[in-house]
Amino acid sequence: MAFTLIYNLQAIVHRGRRLLTTLSSRRGSSGRRSFLISGFMLPFMPLRKRTALLIAPLLVSFGLIGVALTAPALAADKLELSVDVSKAGAKIDRNIFGQFAEHLGHGIYDGIWVGPDSSIPNTRGIRNDVVAALKALKVPNVRWPGGCFADEYHWRNGIGPKRVITLNPNWGGVIEPNTFGTHEFMDFLDQIGADAYVSINVGSGTPREAAEWLEYMTTAQPTTLAKERAANGHPPPYEVGYLGIGNESWDCGGNMTPDYYLSQLKIYSHFVRNFNPAQQANQQMLKIAVGPGGGEARWTEWTEAIMEAYQHHTWSWNITGLSMHSYTVVRWPPSFESVGFGESEYAQILKSTLDMEDLIAKHSAIMDKYDPQKKVALVVDEWGAWYAPLRGSDPGFLVQQNSLRDAILAAINLNIFARHAERVRMANIAQMINVLQAMIMTDKEKMVLTPTYHVFKMYVPFQDATFVPITLNAGTYRHDKIGLPRVDAIAAKDTTGKLWLEITNLDPNQSVEIEANLAGISAKSAAGETLTAHSVDSINTFEAPNRVVPKPISAKVSGGKLALKLEPKSVTVVSIEQ
Ligand code: AHR
Repeated sequence: MAFTLIYNLQAIVHRGRRLLTTLSSRRGSSGRRSFLISGFMLPFMPLRKRTALLIAPLLVSFGLIGVALTAPALAADKLELSVDVSKAGAKIDRNIFGQFAEHLGHGIYDGIWVGPDSSIPNTRGIRNDVVAALKALKVPNVRWPGGCFADEYHWRNGIGPKRVITLNPNWGGVIEPNTFGTHEFMDFLDQIGADAYVSINVGSGTPREAAEWLEYMTTAQPTTLAKERAANGHPPPYEVGYLGIGNESWDCGGNMTPDYYLSQLKIYSHFVRNFNPAQQANQQMLKIAVGPGGGEARWTEWTEAIMEAYQHHTWSWNITGLSMHSYTVVRWPPSFESVGFGESEYAQILKSTLDMEDLIAKHSAIMDKYDPQKKVALVVDEWGAWYAPLRGSDPGFLVQQNSLRDAILAAINLNIFARHAERVRMANIAQMINVLQAMIMTDKEKMVLTPTYHVFKMYVPFQDATFVPITLNAGTYRHDKIGLPRVDAIAAKDTTGKLWLEITNLDPNQSVEIEANLAGISAKSAAGETLTAHSVDSINTFEAPNRVVPKPISAKVSGGKLALKLEPKSVTVVSIEQ
């Protein structure tokens, strides 16, 4: 059975949702089964016969998983794809490439902040290597300080010369030194060139506390709070582009009913104002309400309740975004390994991540009922893979590895967001550094870029580009009882008019030959990059940082057609020159 591009897979596995209050006690430990075999032994398989004979018993007894993952590619299938540039659609908002950085594990401390006295090269306490890497991603916005942490964060603890030392009860109960606070966050954003997405504390704070935080950050008037900001080193007002009003208020943010949350939302939306003069006209701060956390009935009701209220909102409150959280987790507590897994786990995870399509379609349809003009953006401000904690790590720190599978997972999700560009205008992968599906991993002075990082870098040309619909007979990749589209793709025209194509080959065993018909442009040549690796669980490590890195790909254009061969398990981006 062939899948068309806008496939509509039925959600057969519904993920149990997590109760974060009992998170650490319910989280299982991880094992790194067969990591050495699939990641290390297999490259040696083609050694001379004598060597092969010597290691044969080892390979037979340990190598089966690896063989399955790295079997030589079968003959390439040929798939046709058509792009018509004259049918360009919505803008792919650059904000869908947003990031999320929570006070959790080593996400902030060590990952971003090392302090000005550290021997690790830094600028005002912020790591130079991390900043340089993130600049290359053109990160549009960063959501901070949480997550569940946001609903316990008291901003005054994180300003001024004397920081209040508190705890982080959500994430391991560790010490929160508050050395990374408002000014450090804004400095970090300034250094990487991103906008601020600040989540205010609705769960355990007050409207007054949140209102004062915004006044402290944004007013240009000589108020006491503005003077305090100046005394703390920043006389001009900060810009806050996006305001999150609570986080998962149906769960770790206070376990509220839709009605209770709505009453809070109206209060916070009214009183928490942005005073920055530069943000009063066109650059107004978006106010993002807590939205659904899945497809089940309780979240359908939640979206209905918020959007129905929005439809009747008065002058005194408003929202411009509704958040949605959806992790690829398959079962709770997260038990899939992030390394050393087989093709079965690869296929299951990708099947699960494709549920994002249905979820967005479902909640968009509800939003369309109450907001047909699509004034309220659907903001997928927590998404990504959530696996079992890495062996030896603190389970409260949500440390996991990041493999080629995650790169493919990221591309699939970014493509889904792009196809829903009219409604999905912002998204934040969880999380930026050292936590869950991270861009970057650090260990003291060492830093490594993950496969997911490389996908985000390859997608930079899609930021604010115009979506161009494509038709594609995607074919089918099968494993056990799972059938997935073999290929996924999007196209877009950038601001200079150049056409960009992204094509993901999900099939880990078979390459695919693509013949793309290009209408609406006179294509002359094409160039691009592809990201693949030895096996689906290949990772970059501090010792071997270049196992999964993009490589140039050759693409031929003739007679208005583009010919391209996609490696198995690969993410490819090409640009077409006219
Ligand atoms: O990203 C980790 C946690 O997942 C966040 O703190 C919370 O919002 C979500 O449940």
